[in-house]
Amino acid sequence: MAQVFDRSSNALARMSLVLTGLIVIALGVTLDQLQRSPWVTKQGQRPDQPIPFSHKHHVEGLGLQCQYCHTSVEKSSYAGIPPTKTCINCHAQIWTNADYLEPVRQSWATGASIQWIRVHDLPDFVYFNHEIHVNKGIGCASCHGRVDEMPLMYQENTLQMEWCLNCHRNPAANLRPTSEIYNMAWAGPSSDKPVWCGSTGKAGPTAGAVSCTTTDPSKGGPELAALQAGPAAGGAQAVSDAPAAAIAVPASYTKFTNQMDLGKYLTAQYHIRTPNELSSCETCHR
Ligand code: HEC
Ligand code: HEC
Ligand code: HEC
Ligand code: HEC
Ligand code: HEC
Repeated sequence: MAQVFDRSSNALARMSLVLTGLIVIALGVTLDQLQRSPWVTKQGQRPDQPIPFSHKHHVEGLGLQCQYCHTSVEKSSYAGIPPTKTCINCHAQIWTNADYLEPVRQSWATGASIQWIRVHDLPDFVYFNHEIHVNKGIGCASCHGRVDEMPLMYQENTLQMEWCLNCHRNPAANLRPTSEIYNMAWAGPSSDKPVWCGSTGKAGPTAGAVSCTTTDPSKGGPELAALQAGPAAGGAQAVSDAPAAAIAVPASYTKFTNQMDLGKYLTAQYHIRTPNELSSCETCHR
């Protein structure tokens, strides 16, 4: 009986196998790329908000603190979006006729809240909490970028699992004194700009346990004198771990000139869990 397939079709079969393999790989790579693409992660996109609210104008320009509007960021899992009342505090007087602000006036008149579009939105199966990050020395800018320079809000990072894990595997690289949480320009200590930290002896792992300063405490400059005289003396330039509470002054300071040394020190002071514990699935999927 004659061969149904000749030799050349054998080669063809092999070729098509190789081709199929290549196509499968290409598809895999494309899907993987797609899954990481800004189109899926929403990274960098600026949604059409009902009002073109500018963080740049309100934070950098007017010097408003994040907590003025995101009031619950230190004490709750949610940072919160400010109610219309917060805008009206100023906009009852300023820019009262601007078209831009019509939705604010509408909302104030009717009591219906402004329908802001969420920029950051983790899936429901992921547990996230602002309070612990903020109270353990992770600054807003480490996750949200230079918000003070954003005319319109966008998502700086992917918020994908890999991104969270990147920090959870090596938190020391990102830890700062909790007094620097809102400092958008914090760059960590360097030999030009050292940071001195000391334990205040106060109980509790976070706020109040460590006090850090960017002026040499051994020089006992006017800032430190003011600090030691107590906050009431005013003019205290030194940064403290407990901005609102009475400032406790450490008995001795350690000087830090690089991030890793400071990070290791704060890891111990803030009782940060091990990278293994922080990367275990139950930490974020409960
Ligand atoms: C005057 C009030 C105000 C101040 C001050 C303010 N914000 Fe906001 N913030 C808003 C409003 C309103 C929105 C919702 C509209 C938007 O996304 O632009 C928002 C949105 C955000 C979002 C995105 C929320 C989402 O939908 O995912 C982040 C992140 C954020 N702010 C961070 C900060 C940080 C960090 C600071 C301090 C540097 C700050 N904000 C200061 C009013 C404020
Ligand atoms: C502490 C006072 C204050 C608060 C609170 C405040 N604003 Fe403003 N806002 C201003 C001032 C002052 C300007 C004019 C800024 C400029 O042009 O430099 C302004 C400008 C604006 C503008 C015009 C465009 C721009 O950014 O310059 C919009 C829109 C706006 N604000 C929306 C809001 C919304 C929405 C809220 C509430 C989440 C809010 N503002 C809260 C003081 C405030
Ligand atoms: C460890 C990273 C991280 C840090 C630090 C962080 N955020 Fe967020 N933020 C997120 C994530 C993730 C979301 C989205 C949460 C969700 O979808 O449940 C978010 C959401 C928000 C929102 C939207 C409202 C909400 O609560 O979901 C605001 C406003 C906000 N952050 C402000 C801030 C401010 C202000 C700071 C600094 C005091 C800060 N964030 C620090 C990661 C962070
Ligand atoms: C820049 C660093 C950084 C990033 C990014 C980060 N985390 Fe964390 N996370 C920390 C630190 C530091 C802690 C505190 C660890 C401790 O106290 O042991 C923490 C703690 C947690 C905890 C423990 C909360 C608790 O109450 O036990 C959860 C959950 C968590 N992070 C989720 C996330 C998720 C989800 C993301 C990504 C969307 C994320 N984190 C991104 C640094 C980070
Ligand atoms: C630090 C927080 C964190 C830890 C620890 C963590 N995850 Fe996740 N995981 C996330 C986040 C955030 C997402 C959502 C990613 C997105 O929206 O793309 C996610 C998504 C997932 C998904 C959905 C598929 C995907 O990739 O989007 C699976 C499955 C998953 N995680 C499994 C695990 C397993 C298994 C572990 C333990 C080995 C683990 N995760 C540990 C934060 C974490």
